[in-house]
Amino acid sequence: MKIAVILGTRPEIIKMAPVIDEIKHRGHECIIIHTGQHYDDKMSHQFFIDLNLPIPDFNIHVGSASHAKQTSMMMNRLEDKILEINPDLVLIQGDTNAVLSGALTASKLNIPVGHVEAGLRSFDKTMPEELNRIIADACSHMYFVPTNSAAINLESESIPHNKIIVTGNTIVDACKRNLPIATKNHIITIPKGDYLVLTVHRAENTDNKIRLTNIIESIIELDKQIIFPIHPRTRNILKNEELYNKIKNNKNIILIEPLGYLDFLYLLSNSKLILTDSGGIQEEAITLSIPCVTLRYNTERPETIKVNANVLVGTDKEKIVSTVNNILNNNEKYEAMTNNINPYGDGTAAIKILDYIINLFNSNKLSIKPNSDVVEFNKRQLIQINKEITVGEYEQIHKGCIINMVFNNGNQEYVENNLNLCNKQAIITYFNRK
Ligand code: UD1
Ligand code: UDP
Repeated sequence: MKIAVILGTRPEIIKMAPVIDEIKHRGHECIIIHTGQHYDDKMSHQFFIDLNLPIPDFNIHVGSASHAKQTSMMMNRLEDKILEINPDLVLIQGDTNAVLSGALTASKLNIPVGHVEAGLRSFDKTMPEELNRIIADACSHMYFVPTNSAAINLESESIPHNKIIVTGNTIVDACKRNLPIATKNHIITIPKGDYLVLTVHRAENTDNKIRLTNIIESIIELDKQIIFPIHPRTRNILKNEELYNKIKNNKNIILIEPLGYLDFLYLLSNSKLILTDSGGIQEEAITLSIPCVTLRYNTERPETIKVNANVLVGTDKEKIVSTVNNILNNNEKYEAMTNNINPYGDGTAAIKILDYIINLFNSNKLSIKPNSDVVEFNKRQLIQINKEITVGEYEQIHKGCIINMVFNNGNQEYVENNLNLCNKQAIITYFNRK
């Protein structure tokens, strides 16, 4: 099997690394296409070294540009590459512009698309990432979701449950595999005593002067040792503001260049608390059992909030300062935030992803085929089920129907083949085929 992996930014390289390793481990061909969205060595090349990945087969060098320009350039150049490679499957990850352009381009060429970390929703369409996720999921053919709640998001958008595979998040695979290596091979020297780690790069924060000022002023007011590996987006914006000097001249804040994965993992794992607006770092925080304070007003990672490992504070200065102090000064609260079951799985996401793909390939079900039967109409119905029957059995008996959603006492449940439907309500789509 020939699998093309499209990636272009720091988190995609990290989260795709376990999948790339697993593809090669199973003896299949893996062709890496780098979009070139991240191009600084510290945002891209360093991760290939740290994660022991092969250099990408192709780099289409889109560089930085506005969303429309960057996305259209990616689609334009990806189409040529995908046609040239003619893969059996295209894999995309997460919610960057590569996901949108990769999914749209490959699906229009009738090449199956697998979305790794599908189904996340912040329900905030002002976020560029939310649009990317929704569009990528609309174009994809198989959905590797980290949690049941991501699966439910997709089922609510009428994605058939048999195309949704709950795998956990590959960040746990990456984290578990690399933490021992990072602990042994790190180059960074961490400070003595407690320290916090800060990262900020989300457009909604960097491009809003009030929010960015609040965040910077809050970390100054906190009066704690804070290490701040700065994303180039944030560095470029801060350099034009006097805020940059405020941080530079503050004895508590250690401003450093973005770190490679091993150094960053080592830094995170030894920190007391994490302040971030990153998506992946919210997941790493719970994986490493470090309390996370998220500088956003919503999150597509609600599982971390539900289990009390993460707090959403937004960007209000007083709220940030009081929340951090509250956690650090209250042992019971601190312990509660660090003692949680990881909702993102046990580090076997890549294995589950490859199991599914290989099974489809071996049973000749990977390629996309046009309909060979006539679908006259479909109808959707809400039904009450009062007997012991599983989803799989129901669909087997009622040929041509798909169970889209199941409700138990008003709560939506994740639809999987062996879910018992007894005393539950289901929304069912019937396809009338001739
Ligand atoms: C992108 C993703 C975001 C993800 C983040 C990971 C989209 C819409 N955004 O945001 O979802 O969380 O990557 O870090 O896909 N720059 C450099 N050097 C680089 C790359 C960028 O200097 O190697 C600077 C440029 O000034 C550029 C700015 O950073 O304009 C923003 O880069 P861009 O890739 O557009 O978005 P990110 O903020 O990195
Ligand atoms: N990361 C890193 N070095 C840094 C900052 C972050 O290696 O200096 C890693 C971090 O461990 C995580 C990923 O980058 O796995 C998160 O990327 P980012 O915050 O840029 O993007 P997001 O996850 O928000 O899309």
